[in-house]
Amino acid sequence: MNPIQHIINIQSFSRGEINRILDRAAQLEPITHSGVSDILAGKILVTLFCEPSTRTRLSFDVAMKRLGGDVIDFGPTEESAVAKGENLADTISVMGGYADAIVLRHPKEGAARMASEFSSVPVINAGDGAGQHPTQTLLDLYTIRKESKLNNVKIAIVGDLKYGRTVYSLTHALSMYNAEIYLVSPDQLRMPDSLKRDLTDKGAKITETRDLDDVIGVVDVLYITRIQKERFPDLGEYQAVAGSYKITEETLKDAKDNLIIMHPLPRVGEIDPGVDKSRHAVYFKQSFYGVPVRMAILSMVMG
Ligand code: CP
Repeated sequence: MNPIQHIINIQSFSRGEINRILDRAAQLEPITHSGVSDILAGKILVTLFCEPSTRTRLSFDVAMKRLGGDVIDFGPTEESAVAKGENLADTISVMGGYADAIVLRHPKEGAARMASEFSSVPVINAGDGAGQHPTQTLLDLYTIRKESKLNNVKIAIVGDLKYGRTVYSLTHALSMYNAEIYLVSPDQLRMPDSLKRDLTDKGAKITETRDLDDVIGVVDVLYITRIQKERFPDLGEYQAVAGSYKITEETLKDAKDNLIIMHPLPRVGEIDPGVDKSRHAVYFKQSFYGVPVRMAILSMVMG
């Protein structure tokens, strides 16, 4: 019997495995335009979100339905037995008896790993606190491969590099593709040294700066993130860095013609809406690519 295939972090994938998921997503993408298939007919997915979500929750829901499967959303935890004090381990043990896979978002780093230890079905990490968001990373890689180039890409990662979980997963993955990574943040939100060491140990080429103008003319991809207000221990610390970066048409005057701008969304002021119609903006396509990539992931863990 095969071991259960949980998806907890991006480091558990080799470059070859990532490429196979991206290839599978490309095969499945036409289904997103043409109805449904029966690849996961009879299978049931539970989505359990203990933090707010629009894209991840709904794109998993759509992906499952496009593959012919069914979805039960756990709903607000305050309307479940969690409100009576049931712990995550027991909740997961029970859900494993009802469904064929569980998608979990939780405010605590490490929650998905812990859940996987109690689950009889695959657990997919949909974001664990300031930890990881591996399925976001896979759709980010799919977007970069499709809209720019993945091997040897030059990428600026801008904004909250301390609390942003998409950044942790993405930089790990990019280090497998010989990327040149420019980390752009205020001093207070720099990537922790331990993570930078991890990346350089893997051969990643990293440059740090506070000033986006230093790198805007060099990069193929500009990946900007929201400053994660909810993870700051103190509101004053957040206010000191809020609004540090805002992409406008002026910011892009020295950009390469084929620069793409990505954002995991939601945005809260990091990109001026005037940029949305520019040839550089791919962030809404990026959120759409969440559907074929999550179809590939679901078909892999349950197919
Ligand atoms: N990118 C992302 O995780 O968005 P949601 O919080 O809306 O799921």
